[in-house]
Amino acid sequence: MDDWVDLHAIESDPEVARYQGFEPRTVAETQAYIEHTLARARAEPRLTYDLAVVLHGSHAVIGRCGLEIADLESREGVVWYTLHRSLWGNGYVPEALRAVVDFGFLELRLHRIWADCDPRNRPSYRVLEKIGMRREAHLVENAWLKGAWVDSLIYAVLDREWQARGQAIK
Ligand SMILES: CC(C)(COP(=O)(O)OP(=O)(O)OC[C@H]1O[C@@H](n2cnc3c(N)ncnc32)[C@H](O)[C@@H]1OP(=O)(O)O)[C@@H](O)C(=O)NCCC(=O)NCCS
Repeated sequence: MDDWVDLHAIESDPEVARYQGFEPRTVAETQAYIEHTLARARAEPRLTYDLAVVLHGSHAVIGRCGLEIADLESREGVVWYTLHRSLWGNGYVPEALRAVVDFGFLELRLHRIWADCDPRNRPSYRVLEKIGMRREAHLVENAWLKGAWVDSLIYAVLDREWQARGQAIK
């Protein structure tokens, strides 16, 4: 729960929330989000891994990067990520997301991992491209976000593709 202070500095920023499904968070919303995250982490079976991103040697939370098993039967997971605005452009989220995708394929034995993002959010889809995810679809006005219909890009990667590129530790 102590992480709420760091997380709030990130998620109360309108630029960070701009293309996400939430408005800049209030303190109460940030605290409720962490409570919800902790409850999901205790669920059996555990389906959600909403993890803090920290710099090596530090405990300060600079972002979060997560994975949820969206469908157990088809072994499919979905990922997401966010970073404090002052640290954008250092490659931190690609590094964090690679680790989360490794975890999804190696530990959770997923078959397919996907992500969606708003096509206007170039930094976000660049992260997906940099780690080698494939653009599979451009959905048109499939979501109602902040008072408008918006498009979505769908990116994905399969377990065998990830391993063929040697990204996962065998
Ligand atoms: C998307 C996000 C997580 C990227 O994380 P990151 O660690 O900065 O990723 P990278 O360092 O690899 O940079 C990715 C792209 O961001 C862009 N970028 C870099 N610095 C930037 C800055 N200061 N301002 C705006 N965009 C910037 C660049 O286009 C870069 O791509 P390039 O390397 O091809 O030029 C981060 O921008 C963020 O937290 N955005 C708000 C939350 C969000 O939209 N999450 C995704 C929801 S789908």
